[in-house]
Amino acid sequence: MVDNLFSWKDKAVAITGGGNGIGLAIAIAAKNLGAKVSISDINETDLNAAKDQYGFNVCLSDAGKEKDILNFISNTEENIGDIDIFFANAGVARSGTLDTSDEDWDISHRVNVMHHVWAARAVIPSMRKRNDCRFITTASAAGLLSEINSASYSLTKHAAVGFAEWLSIVYGKDDSEGNAVTISCLCPQGVNTAMTANMENGGVAGIDGMLNPSDVANTVISTVSEGGFLILPHPVVKEYIKFKTADYPRWLGGMRKLYAKFKGSY
Ligand SMILES: NC(=O)c1ccc[n+]([C@@H]2O[C@H](COP(=O)([O-])OP(=O)(O)OC[C@H]3O[C@@H](n4cnc5c(N)ncnc54)[C@H](O)[C@@H]3O)[C@@H](O)[C@H]2O)c1
Repeated sequence: MVDNLFSWKDKAVAITGGGNGIGLAIAIAAKNLGAKVSISDINETDLNAAKDQYGFNVCLSDAGKEKDILNFISNTEENIGDIDIFFANAGVARSGTLDTSDEDWDISHRVNVMHHVWAARAVIPSMRKRNDCRFITTASAAGLLSEINSASYSLTKHAAVGFAEWLSIVYGKDDSEGNAVTISCLCPQGVNTAMTANMENGGVAGIDGMLNPSDVANTVISTVSEGGFLILPHPVVKEYIKFKTADYPRWLGGMRKLYAKFKGSY
């Protein structure tokens, strides 16, 4: 599964939103490959449970606040060393159409987009002074396609994909100013986590079958090891992107039918 050229052993791995769900599964998978792992979360109980069970370095930190992201990064550097692999993974899903409140737009923007910007700004310059570092963001298939239940999730996850693409274009190749940083962007569809269980908060509907977080983590580890950009735990998403770009009106028509079917069912 893991590319022999890339070793996770002794790498310092930092993961936001690592107390539960996809982030925790990635943390466990990285630890099982010999990495030193540091996680942040806003849920202190989950952080302490992960610390006790897996021995991770933990840091209470809100991904929607730049000072907390910076604190997580310095806490990680002090406790496990310079960060080799950073996962900007924490995310929020708020349901709503044009009635979405400014508060929900704001938190979605800060956690799903600015958190990636703040983390990249803080860690990429130091990664460029070293070799073989990785920066991974968790967006969503909603960032490539759409999330019919949530305008704010759709928009911010598209922005997250756009930012990851931009990072890869600008920093993905060695240049006179530093080493390349390999950028990847995780875009799952439905995954069995608290986010999807909690539909009143805008949980994401699994259209083509829900995966477990450990399945997602396996795909993450193999794609990141290979240096791939797009991490697609649901391979069908690639077919949907092809279909969308080949025939936009037909794709929009199909999505409208889906919206009519699921409207009111959340
Ligand atoms: N579950 C899915 O179907 C699905 C699909 C596509 C993308 N995603 C994305 O995957 C990522 C992880 O989601 P998940 O499904 O594992 O959800 P989850 O709710 O199981 O886990 C998210 C973790 O992030 C933490 N968190 C939430 N807000 C935070 C904040 N402001 N700062 C720090 N930590 C915070 C939570 O406490 C939780 O531990 C998110 O970015 C989400 O948008 C999830």
